Parts: sequence; C-alpha cells; structure tokens
Amino acid sequence: MEITQDHFALVTGASGGIGFEIAKQLRARGYGLLLVSSDAEKLSKARAALERGPGSGAIHTAALDLAKPGASQAVVDFTTSLAVDVELLINNAGFGAYGEHVELDAERLARMLQLNVTTLAELCLSYGKSMKARGRGRILNVASTAAYQPTPFFAAYGASKSFVLSFSEALAKELEDHGVTVTCLSPGPTDTAFFSDLERRGLHNVNFEPAVRDSASAVAKIGLEALFSGKLSRIVGTKNFWRAWSARLAPRSVVARIAKGMMRASPSASRQLGQG
Ligand SMILES: NC(=O)c1ccc[n+]([C@@H]2O[C@H](COP(=O)([O-])OP(=O)(O)OC[C@H]3O[C@@H](n4cnc5c(N)ncnc54)[C@H](OP(=O)(O)O)[C@@H]3O)[C@@H](O)[C@H]2O)c1
Repeated sequence: MEITQDHFALVTGASGGIGFEIAKQLRARGYGLLLVSSDAEKLSKARAALERGPGSGAIHTAALDLAKPGASQAVVDFTTSLAVDVELLINNAGFGAYGEHVELDAERLARMLQLNVTTLAELCLSYGKSMKARGRGRILNVASTAAYQPTPFFAAYGASKSFVLSFSEALAKELEDHGVTVTCLSPGPTDTAFFSDLERRGLHNVNFEPAVRDSASAVAKIGLEALFSGKLSRIVGTKNFWRAWSARLAPRSVVARIAKGMMRASPSASRQLGQG
C-alpha cells in the first residue's frame, strides 16, 4: 500500500523513549503523526526533533494526561477535531510504580492502572471500532517481559502488562476477520527514562545492567516490523524470549522466587528514596 500524507498514526507516549523512536520511524515511512503525552514542553521538543529528521508528513500534538479517567475521550476529541482517520494506533504510554506494593502511594497506583490498563483498553475500543467499520487498521500495544511472570516489588505494574498481553492477543483474534491486526510488543530492559527511574529507586541487578539493555530505537524497529507483518505477539531479544518462555514452563513458585531475587531494591536506595 502506498503511504500518503492522509495516512495517520496515533502514538501515545511519543515525547520520549520507545514512543518517540516509533514516531520517528513512522514519519520516515511517510505517515502523518498524531502524538499524545502529558508534558507539553517535552512534546513540543519531540515534535521539533521529528521535524528536523526524515519525513514530511503532518505532525499534530496534544498534551493530555492519559492517567486520568476519561482521558481516552479527550484523545478521540483531538483526532475527531482534525477529521483524520487513524490507520495505526500505537498504545505505548506507560509507567511503573516500583516498590513494595503495600508501601506504594495509592494515587500513583491508581494513575498507573488507569494509564497502563484502562486508557489502553478504551483507545482500542474507540479506534478498533472505526478500523473495523473501515475494514482496515493496525494496533500495536506495548506490554513488557514483566507480563510473563509475577514480578514482586513491581507487582501491579507486571500485572498491568499481563493484562496488555492477554487483552491484545484476544482482541487480535476478534478483529482478524475484519481486516484489523493487533500486535503485542514485549520489550525487556530498554535504555530510557523508564529504566533510569527504576535504577534511581534502587533496582540494580546484573540482568538489567546498561550493557544488556536494548536501545529505544532497536525496540521501536522490532515493534514496527511486528506491527506491519501482523504478528500476534513479539518479545524483544533472544535472551528475553527464552527467559519469558522458561517462566511459562517452570513451576510458578520457582518463577516467583527467582523474580523476587531479581526485582528487590538495594536496601540503601529504598531507605534514601522512600517508596512509590
Ligand atoms: N524501558 C523499559 O525497560 C521498558 C521495558 C518494557 C516495557 N516498557 C514499556 O514501554 C513503554 C514506553 O516506555 P519507555 O521505556 O519509552 O519510557 P519513557 O521514556 O519514560 O517514556 C514514557 C512515555 O509515556 C508518556 N507518559 C507517561 N505518563 C503519561 C501520562 N500520564 N499521560 C500521557 N503520557 C504519559 C511519557 O511522556 P510525558 O512524560 O510527556 O507524559 C513518555 O512519552 C511503557 O508502556 C513501558 O511500560 C518499557
């Protein structure tokens, strides 16, 4: 299919990290961009950087807090006001509340679940419906390798990503008869602000060292390849792939114990920062 400027991709969490790299690579492929994230200044810097890079499609931005109830309607209002069809929906925005679950800040927990779970599912409903009506469209939902096993000290985040994985694979089956593909992307440790925040909160483990992390651009490339080939699910990286699959085969008690050892914060860091 020839990509013209009438082909638009909606990318959430496009102001940095994996979302920004996805936006950059889609622009280079000829897509117009509809970019959403919460920080207006970061978003306008991202837009300027994209305009300096390859591609010439239109870029529209909306600074919206997707962790608020009702945020998905604000996104729909934004794209409706532009009178464009969303050909690609990239549900990438997300964050992780790291620490002992019972010590988390309750408001931060609610915001994370709203963003990672509810807003994502609602955007799939709204844009999935119009894609189904047109008989065309693609959705990429960003989960995590944390989706594949219990993640002590990241319990609700891991569970939110298990939701994304299970939901996306089921939705893909519902929409496949209507010309719409749904792909779930599960990155492992990736070098972005997300991971720097985990480090700041005390997560230090050889399995997450900077040297083993993927770059955001490599993750974006793999995600877009999976999206355009209509794959159901893609785990980024061979090591992450085998780790996720061995977690499915091993007894849950063993997997949970190993994950606890990997995910525990160093005691001095959690004392200094508090939790949440
Ligand atoms: N990095 C990793 O190791 C890793 C591993 C597996 C999965 N993931 C997943 O990959 C996705 C992207 O993460 P990343 O690593 O690229 O992190 P990042 O660099 O922190 O980027 C997160 C993006 O989400 C946006 N965002 C955060 N809260 C938002 C809110 N309330 N409303 C709207 N936008 C919001 C941020 O923009 P604003 O600050 O402008 O709001 C930013 O653009 C997430 O879903 C994350 O769970 C990351």
